[in-house]
Amino acid sequence: MRSTRLPWDPPENALAAVARAAAAAGALIDLTASNPTEVGLTYPAAGIAAALARAPISRYEPAPLGLPSARAAVAADYARAGVAVDSEQIVLTASSSESYGFLFKLCCNPGDAVLVPEPSYPLFEYLARLEGVVPLGYRLAFDGVWHVDFAGLDETLAEARRTGLRPRALVVVNPNNPTGSFLKREELARLSAVCDRLEMAIISDEVFAPYPFGPDPTRVPLVAANETICIAQLRGAGVRILATTVRDAQPANLADMTDPVALLIGNEGNGVAEDLIAKSDAKITIPCPGPVESLNAAMAATVLLYEVARQRAAASGGTKDRQTNGRGARR
Ligand SMILES: Cc1ncc(COP(=O)(O)O)c(C=O)c1O
Repeated sequence: MRSTRLPWDPPENALAAVARAAAAAGALIDLTASNPTEVGLTYPAAGIAAALARAPISRYEPAPLGLPSARAAVAADYARAGVAVDSEQIVLTASSSESYGFLFKLCCNPGDAVLVPEPSYPLFEYLARLEGVVPLGYRLAFDGVWHVDFAGLDETLAEARRTGLRPRALVVVNPNNPTGSFLKREELARLSAVCDRLEMAIISDEVFAPYPFGPDPTRVPLVAANETICIAQLRGAGVRILATTVRDAQPANLADMTDPVALLIGNEGNGVAEDLIAKSDAKITIPCPGPVESLNAAMAATVLLYEVARQRAAASGGTKDRQTNGRGARR
């Protein structure tokens, strides 16, 4: 008796047949081989053996989420990329395949669906089916550059509705295998809006993120570093998002900032991006006399943080300056 999660005797595909014939003729160079001990590399075996001999491996001290020191190293790596993540929130697994198993179990019940890009990593079909989850492809299209085909995504979602499948997560591979393409910031904003609406998680596979060819400001280097995702996470944690603008906004001293708030401060030239303003809960401004066009970002942050501290001190009775505090002046 075998489960029916996967077909057990899939027919040999054309590539496998060519590879088998080439191997038999001794003419196969397998570039997918990933066992470093079997591809003719020299490595410091004695040094590795000596390091293992020194390591405290004779004691059994299981750390199911990963060694704390290794998790701290991953958090430090994220910090270098500008992402503040607590090492307590990091879970280490033996491989990304195992991570997919955990994440699909976390997000989906058996019979639910996950959206996976096409073309992409061919193992999604197996990884999802082994968890009793249905993989639904959403198209990537090429017209000089690879991009998400949003019309194709709508079709996939419509098909899921027709067939009664409930997609619980959307996978992005950033950069993608085999196209090598990064997700664009604008694409992630649109995908995260779809995921918000349909209550789907975004799972981002970034195993190739450290290998960009060069800088490109339009792309998402790491999904966790993207403002759209940070805003969703902050809002989920009960934080109000206040975007700073030069005009058409409530003066900061009249906006209540006594509860948890996140302040979005743009650069001097362009201010906060329009899509982020649209995602924020309110706009605030620093009242300035005369035709001021912009304020130095660090200066704006200083003034606003002073105002936040002033309001909080007043709210907790720490100062006599109560008549102008934010709570009293709430509109
Ligand atoms: C998109 C993607 N994710 C993950 C992996 C690696 O998976 P694992 O860590 O399970 O070997 C690969 C390997 O090619 C990949 O292309």
